[in-house]
Amino acid sequence: MSRKKDHHFALPAVVFGRERIADRVTTLAARISRDYASRELTIISILKGSVVFCADLMRHLAVPCVLDFMAVASYEGQRSRGVVKIVSDLRESPVGKHLLVVEDIVDTGYTLQYLKDNLQTRAPASIRTCVLLDKPSARKVPIRADYVGFTAPDRFLVGYGLDYREHYRHLPYIGAVKGTH
Ligand code: IMP
Ligand code: MG
Repeated sequence: MSRKKDHHFALPAVVFGRERIADRVTTLAARISRDYASRELTIISILKGSVVFCADLMRHLAVPCVLDFMAVASYEGQRSRGVVKIVSDLRESPVGKHLLVVEDIVDTGYTLQYLKDNLQTRAPASIRTCVLLDKPSARKVPIRADYVGFTAPDRFLVGYGLDYREHYRHLPYIGAVKGTH
């Protein structure tokens, strides 16, 4: 088997390690459980980036919850186009539900703002947002998630669900790829 291309997949340097992530996810889940008390939560995991985070987060929730997915496209490689469209919509009706949008990272903010605006038109009981990573340095629209895992440095991050051209999602930690600044 050729090893020619292996350098493209060199392991990224650790930015947030797995234990640090696990601690933070537990804390976020406890806060969410407290805030929602006995209300039923509808978790909307945004594909694909949030699946690893969401899977860990929901296993620490102490409130009843239902899971749904949405897929949006807004990003080509590393450059946001500022255009968001729904690629795959919810399977369940969000009407009258307490929605918690779970996303991997908020960068320019276009995606999260679009999702909030779009879901708001569908008569939910409430909408909140939970992001693993917040990159405030890249923000184009003034949106702040209700629950934030970590404030991220201005670097391109991968792992724990986040990808660089579909690679690295499986890494158990969050790292920065060399050469992506
Ligand atoms: P926004 O619309 O610019 O806020 O971008 C949100 C989306 O861009 C996220 O759901 C990610 O898919 C992607 N994204 C932004 N920054 C990064 C990064 O550092 N690593 C991986 N994906 C990123
Ligand atoms: Mg994404």
